[in-house]
Amino acid sequence: MIIYKAKDYQDLSRKAANIISAQVIMKPDCVLGLATGSSPVGTYKQLIEWYEKGDLDFSSVTSINLDEYKGLGPENDQSYRYFMNTNLFDHINIDKTRTFVPNGLETDSDKACADYDKIIDTSGGIDLQLLGLGHNGHIGFNEPADAFADGTHCVDLTESTIEANTRFFACEADVPRQAYTMGIRNIMQAKKVLVVVSGRDKAEILKKVVCGPITPQVPASVLQLHKDAVIIADEEAMALMD
Ligand code: GLP
Repeated sequence: MIIYKAKDYQDLSRKAANIISAQVIMKPDCVLGLATGSSPVGTYKQLIEWYEKGDLDFSSVTSINLDEYKGLGPENDQSYRYFMNTNLFDHINIDKTRTFVPNGLETDSDKACADYDKIIDTSGGIDLQLLGLGHNGHIGFNEPADAFADGTHCVDLTESTIEANTRFFACEADVPRQAYTMGIRNIMQAKKVLVVVSGRDKAEILKKVVCGPITPQVPASVLQLHKDAVIIADEEAMALMD
């Protein structure tokens, strides 16, 4: 695990965008695993800026997102498909037919998850997986559990995650209770993993992820076993690390 300390969110976003850019330049037809949440928004803004300057070309890139709320469709402005379109895809030259997000409108969970695992497997594998970090250590929507989940699966969101995500909805009752998410196996099989962590409120969990035991109760701790995992954290998130 390599940890880069960034000065602030802007510095973190620039550093993360640099790594993603390097991946796209080195392998124009790469597969990017992408994430939602507040943490990667600055990274996406930076990538858009460099694309507009003519420094980046996404025309051959495939993207596969981590997760989606069950029950929300692409037109819903709280769906992760909508998030990705508005925060990245609408502003770069990626071919939208090669951007994948789990189908939140598929009511048959087994089918939704099997279909998504097939997409990941037939893509040839994820070259770089971008991740944010939940306050309880979740990655994607892999919540603390008794065992690490394998492939794509349907999860019941924990109360703390529902509470954390309420800020994006009109009220807590509107937050979906379930989501489809890639599993730990899907994430760990990515060739490179890049985690962006920002803010004092992530300091406790970041310390556990990096220095604590590897346990499914802190899902991101499994990244200690990944052979090419990079964490970029700002000073506030690093507050409890030496
Ligand atoms: C959500 C997403 C995760 C994300 C996490 C942290 O629950 N499913 O993929 O990493 O929240 O979000 P944020 O970056 O807004 O703190």
